[in-house]
Amino acid sequence: MRSLIDILDLSVQEIEELISVSEDIIANPEKYREKCRYKKLATLFFEPSTRTRLSFEAAMMELGGNVLGFSDANSSSSSKGESVSDTVTVVSGYADIIAMRHPKEGAPLVASMKSSVPIINAGDGGHNHPTQTLADLLTIKREKGTLENLTIGFCGDLKFGRTVHSLIAAMSRYKGIKFVLISPEELKLPSYVKETYIKNKGIEYEQTTSLDDAMDKLDVLYMTRVQKERFFNEEDYLRLKDSYILTPEKLVPAKEDLIILHPLPRVNEISTAVDNDKRAAYFRQARNAKYIRMALILKLLEVD
Ligand code: NCD
Repeated sequence: MRSLIDILDLSVQEIEELISVSEDIIANPEKYREKCRYKKLATLFFEPSTRTRLSFEAAMMELGGNVLGFSDANSSSSSKGESVSDTVTVVSGYADIIAMRHPKEGAPLVASMKSSVPIINAGDGGHNHPTQTLADLLTIKREKGTLENLTIGFCGDLKFGRTVHSLIAAMSRYKGIKFVLISPEELKLPSYVKETYIKNKGIEYEQTTSLDDAMDKLDVLYMTRVQKERFFNEEDYLRLKDSYILTPEKLVPAKEDLIILHPLPRVNEISTAVDNDKRAAYFRQARNAKYIRMALILKLLEVD
């Protein structure tokens, strides 16, 4: 039995297979409608979510399965003081697979040690978010035709942005990748991520506070929200929240075939005036998330 806690739990080959299953699901959805009949997915969300939880639930429903769970820690027994490990021991007796989001880094890993069914990390604190990365990879592949030879700019909250950490780890395994890390000083990429996935792998990178300076080099621009819920004080959040706002004017020097990604939710960091630009791929990215979560559920449940 396998869980997905970290994106590197999957090999490059396995990610390629998930991408190609997703593409087949997109082309032939009817083939998959009964694949998970009588199977149950539990979504244990100890932190808010729209896309991640609903796309997991939609994914299981489109595979013919059922879903159960909670979307608010306050409506679960964790509000009575139950440990994650007890919750998971119990729920793994009710469901065939569990997707879990938790504000504490490492909680899904602990859960996977207790669970008798596969655990999927649907975001753990400011640490990792491997299934968002799968959606990102599928989107890059569909939009650019390749995962190699790309210059990828990450912009915004690189410190607390778990989607950034997982996507950097994933992209560090492909050829010809360059990273441009764009953030305010206070929200720089954590040094463990930089050391492990960039420096130790000899990957070319630049670090800057200026989105304008980086714009013309990028093949992919990954915008992120400043992660309000991880700040210790309101003042710092207010000062940093609007550090970068992508507008049509800012995109003037950008490549014609740039793609703009964002895991969403967006607050102010992308002006809605950018939404009609063909390079804005973030809503397509959100759609892709459902398909690759379907492929992942099939894989972890070992359904053909
Ligand atoms: C992201 C997350 O939860 O980390 N959202 C998502 O899953 N699509 C990004 C964010 O909340 O800013």
